[in-house]
Amino acid sequence: MVLYQAKDYKDMSRKAANIISAQVIMKPNAVLGLATGSTPVGAYEQLVEWYNKGDIDFSQVTSVNLDEYKGLSGDNDQSYRYFMNKNLFDHVNIDKARTFVPDGTEPDSKVACAKYNAIIDSVGGIDLQLLGIGGNGHIGFNEPGSAFESLTHCVALKEDTIKANARFFETMDDVPKYAYTMGIKNIMSAKKVLLLASGKNKAKAVYESFFGPIVPGVPASVLQLHNDVIVIADEEALSLCR
Ligand code: F6R
Repeated sequence: MVLYQAKDYKDMSRKAANIISAQVIMKPNAVLGLATGSTPVGAYEQLVEWYNKGDIDFSQVTSVNLDEYKGLSGDNDQSYRYFMNKNLFDHVNIDKARTFVPDGTEPDSKVACAKYNAIIDSVGGIDLQLLGIGGNGHIGFNEPGSAFESLTHCVALKEDTIKANARFFETMDDVPKYAYTMGIKNIMSAKKVLLLASGKNKAKAVYESFFGPIVPGVPASVLQLHNDVIVIADEEALSLCR
């Protein structure tokens, strides 16, 4: 594992964008595994800026995202497809037909997950998987206790996640109760993993994941077994690692 200490969120984002763009420059038809959430937004902004300067070309890139809410279509502004379009895909020359997100509109979980695993296989696997980390060490929607052997699967969202999301929807019925997520095995099969962490609320997860035992109770700890992991964390996220 290579651990880079970044000064702050901006520095972390810039370092991450450097690694992602290096990947695309070295392999123009790279398969990027992408993440949503607040963590990668700064890196996506930086990539868009460099794209606009002509420094990076996404025309041959394929992307596969980690997860999606079951029941949401891509035009729902709470969907992860919408997030990706808004934060990255709409602003660069990536071919949208080669950007994949689990199909939230597929009601049959088995079908949705099998289809997504087949997509990951058909594009030849992931060259670089970008990850954020949850305060409890989750990666994707793989919460503590998830099997290390899991492929794409459907997870029931926790009651507090459902409640927290409720404010974005008109009725409780519209709030997603399930999500489709790549499993830990999909993530571990990526050739390279780039995990980003920023802020004090990630300090415990970073410490336990990379300096503690490898246990299902801390899903990201499995990354200690991967042979090519880069972690970029800012000073606050590393505050328990001194
Ligand atoms: C996002 C994802 C999640 C987030 C994690 C951190 O696609 O799968 O695991 O990476 O919840 O979220 P933020 O970045 O919002 O702190």
